[in-house]
Amino acid sequence: MKLFVVKDNQEGAELGYNIIREALVSGNLNVFGLATGSTPISLYDRITASDLDFTNVVSINLDEYIGIGADHIQSYNYFMNKHLFGKKPFKANYLPNGLEEDAAKECARYDQIIAENPIDIQILGIGENGHIGFNEPGASFDSLTEKVALTESTIIANSRMFDSIDEVPKFAYSMGIKSIMTAKTIILFAYGEKKADAIYKMMEEAPTEALPASALQNHDNVIVIVDEQAASKLDVTKHQ
Ligand code: GLP
Repeated sequence: MKLFVVKDNQEGAELGYNIIREALVSGNLNVFGLATGSTPISLYDRITASDLDFTNVVSINLDEYIGIGADHIQSYNYFMNKHLFGKKPFKANYLPNGLEEDAAKECARYDQIIAENPIDIQILGIGENGHIGFNEPGASFDSLTEKVALTESTIIANSRMFDSIDEVPKFAYSMGIKSIMTAKTIILFAYGEKKADAIYKMMEEAPTEALPASALQNHDNVIVIVDEQAASKLDVTKHQ
């Protein structure tokens, strides 16, 4: 993993943006894997402020809550439209369908989309418990798209986006860890002290399914962009 410690999320966004721009203009970004959460918003703002053209790029999005539709204000579909797709048109945008009740059918449909569109660059955030996408602690490193139950800590962390904690969906569809690992390049962003523990375990402890992001140690092209708070438990010299 290649580590960059930045001043703040603006500097992180600029760094990520430059990597993305270079890949795009050299024809190496045809499929863009995207993430939700507050972390990538500064990157999406940087992209929408640019004149980069994504009309030949397909996006594949990590996850979606189950039980809410694309027009629900807390859905990840809505989030991506608001922060990126509504301002920067793509060739096509794929997200899991949170209203599909047949999980096996929806997971197979999404796996097929990922198989047909190999991801060039995957953007990731990280949960406080080390989750990526919605692959919670204990998720198999061999998982493809799955219906997952959100952990209590994720429900609490994500409840800040909802009027009340009771409204946070308890399940989601998520790309699996194995699917994420197929991306040619992965850029993971983390900001703030609340992520310090997860970043430390991801980078400095042996890979374990108890910390889903630690699977990334087995990928040979991962770029980690963190601020000083998120890097505060790391021995930064080990990663230079
Ligand atoms: C959600 C998403 C993840 C995201 C995480 C962290 O659970 N499924 O993809 O990385 O939240 O969110 P934030 O960036 O707001 O801390």
